[in-house]
Amino acid sequence: MRAKDIRDRKGDDEPLTMLTAYDAPTAEILEDVGVDMLLVGDSVGNLRLGYDSTLPVTVDQIASHTAAVARVADEPMVVADMPFLSFGVDPDEAIEHAGRMLKEADADAVKLESGPHTVKLTERLTQLGIPVQAHLGLTPQHENETGLFRQGTDESAATQILDLAYKHERAGAFSLVLEHVPANVASEVTDAISIPTIGIGAGPDCDGQVLTVDEVIGLSESVAPFSKAFGDVRGEMRSAVEDYVDAVRSGAFPDDEHSHYEDDLDDIR
Ligand code: KIV
Ligand code: NA
Repeated sequence: MRAKDIRDRKGDDEPLTMLTAYDAPTAEILEDVGVDMLLVGDSVGNLRLGYDSTLPVTVDQIASHTAAVARVADEPMVVADMPFLSFGVDPDEAIEHAGRMLKEADADAVKLESGPHTVKLTERLTQLGIPVQAHLGLTPQHENETGLFRQGTDESAATQILDLAYKHERAGAFSLVLEHVPANVASEVTDAISIPTIGIGAGPDCDGQVLTVDEVIGLSESVAPFSKAFGDVRGEMRSAVEDYVDAVRSGAFPDDEHSHYEDDLDDIR
């Protein structure tokens, strides 16, 4: 799926679906189910790489995980999340980093945690042929400055989100992630702009929804209040590993069915 296909879904009755994906087997399952967009989020940092936040994640790491996802996912759009300080410092460097996601890792688009500093960059990337998904509201790369709490909760903050939504739409962004903003603000932004909004903790009126796959399948240890576990993969993994360890310790595994013997090799000493 390309940026144009996502754009064309604006206002559809059926919301767009987006989930994070960081590895090939997960991407296979998501494609099989028909998820519209796979986000190789910098959430890979805290969910898969053992960091406390998304800030340490590097361009190389996102490129590597994006390549794994893109190798198996043909139909869904693959969006690479631009890591902290890989953009917004030097425009040429940002273009090079975003370009790597498409040229090297085979992403279809990049996502930028957006603000006043990403309007020009969004325009430049789009002109160059690198589709940009904007991201407003809670932007976890700013956690040292803003904390990890709800955004757009007073009138001036809500107005600023709307203003930046317009600016990124005009700059050419093909869609906009709205994270942890009041549902009524997300609803107004969705009505106001002509590109699809993808909500996370932003209520039911967005044009689509995104969550981390780890929370949805129940792999992560905790689930954000606005997110939801639809499964218990962590419990399944734990019980499979327990069964394996028990079987090895008791001598039940490997059994004859999982071993093979060659008659001629009984006496090799
Ligand atoms: O990195 C991420 O997972 C994200 C979303 C959840 C939008 O940016
Ligand atoms: Na992210």
